[in-house]
Amino acid sequence: MADVQIKRNQFGKGVFSTRSFQKGEWVLGVVGPLVKQRSIYTIQIAPDLHVMPRSPAKYLNHSCDPNLGVKMNRSGLPEFYALRPIEAGEHLTFDYAMTEYVLEEMETGRERTKCGCGAANCRGWIGSYSELPPEMKRRYAGFIADYLREGIE
Ligand SMILES: C[S@@+](CC[C@H](N)C(=O)[O-])C[C@H]1O[C@@H](n2cnc3c(N)ncnc32)[C@H](O)[C@@H]1O
Ligand SMILES: [Zn+2]
Repeated sequence: MADVQIKRNQFGKGVFSTRSFQKGEWVLGVVGPLVKQRSIYTIQIAPDLHVMPRSPAKYLNHSCDPNLGVKMNRSGLPEFYALRPIEAGEHLTFDYAMTEYVLEEMETGRERTKCGCGAANCRGWIGSYSELPPEMKRRYAGFIADYLREGIE
């Protein structure tokens, strides 16, 4: 927990770096129970399996221009790596489309969440891998959940 801290921002809680990271450096891992049911907190690791992260990973917010990417470890759990150099104090984010084939709102019919990431390339709504434009799939290659790379379509 020393390299990151939880702080409040416009999205509620978020995870922030407490030191700088080099591009490609490991930033944080995910631990927590495996569950069959997705929620706004779960991270998808297989077509029908999700991990319910404990803090701090639980509080990672989404960005359409994220500074973190995902790689699965040997246990099949997500680990987050710096996609670019990160300074101390930065808001740490990943693109939820890197792990979620669809979103909880898409399954329940609940209203979709407007994305407030503010990136120049913001897609407008928090989205899923199934909706990700092909150029973004290419840009995220190597930083998405393994089950998406293996293809579930
Ligand atoms: C895994 S939680 C992240 C932690 C959350 N901020 C909290 O305080 O519990 C995911 C939720 O955070 C909010 N969120 C995360 N990223 C967002 C974004 N880019 N724009 C708007 N809301 C966001 C949404 O409500 C989303 O369902
Ligand atoms: Zn966005």
